[in-house]
Amino acid sequence: MKHLLGIEDLDPVGIDALLDRAESFAEVSKRDIKKVPALRGRTVVTLFYEASTRTSSSFELAAKRLSADVVSVKASGSSVEKGESLKDTVETLSAYDPAAIVIRHPQAGAAQMLTDWVDAAVVNAGDGMHQHPSQALLDLFALRQRIGSVEGKKIWIVGDVLHSRVARSNIQAFSMMGAEVTIAGPPTLIPRGIEATGCKVHYSLDGIEEADVVYLLRMQRERMEESFVPSIREYARLFQVNARRLNPRQLVMHPGPVNRGIEIGGDVIDSDRSLISDQVASGLAVRMAILFELLARGGDSREMDQAPVPIGEPA
Ligand code: CP
Repeated sequence: MKHLLGIEDLDPVGIDALLDRAESFAEVSKRDIKKVPALRGRTVVTLFYEASTRTSSSFELAAKRLSADVVSVKASGSSVEKGESLKDTVETLSAYDPAAIVIRHPQAGAAQMLTDWVDAAVVNAGDGMHQHPSQALLDLFALRQRIGSVEGKKIWIVGDVLHSRVARSNIQAFSMMGAEVTIAGPPTLIPRGIEATGCKVHYSLDGIEEADVVYLLRMQRERMEESFVPSIREYARLFQVNARRLNPRQLVMHPGPVNRGIEIGGDVIDSDRSLISDQVASGLAVRMAILFELLARGGDSREMDQAPVPIGEPA
């Protein structure tokens, strides 16, 4: 695997191998010295054209924990604001000879375009409404830590599926690992033909009691050019998941940032059933594993080699 552009770049064996690697890095994060020398002398560029807290900070910290030099560029405050094109920006940053470029961009396919312009490994940190593969992988890791394999588990993905790259990556990743995926939301926020991915579709929360895991999505009002629901209040009345809608065995996930009191009740966010903090912690270990697999291993196979590679003593 030279780049990570979408979940389709992986298969179940590759995902398991990457999550095994992430477990090693989660162990490293518990040490007094949390750095390993795996990427010493290599440069990682993070390039964010859209707002981010979790993805940008965790990729940056992941690269630093692997001892890489890190150049972090946000479109806001950069020469993008002076009209510099994506291609010119990427060519400019390529002068630093990066081993990897991590990019978030509002246009679907932007990460793919970079692969034609640079020698570096390209990691898609979210492209429009298309893919967010590292989110799906960290979600699988958080679930693995809490419940083990997702095989046979019922996972409901609820909310604004239409505008969600997280939903697209997670439907693929959860299904690939053997989960039964159901999506639920108002008809205006469910993409037409989504059943072709193998998931079930519900237009209400009826039946949600069957779910082992309820994965909530943010209402992405910044991507809505028209009104998709009668009102946010009405949406919350019909689709908000709060403690009253769940039974004690059900787990709740959300990629963040949350709209507290809209798609998710505060009573759920702050409860033991919430994996939201676990998801953020998992992001660091999984993103270390992604950079390690792409750069330290540099494999060209779809399935990642199972042979252990030492991640190194403390740097
Ligand atoms: N889940 C996620 O992508 O969060 P950020 O937008 O904060 O990176």
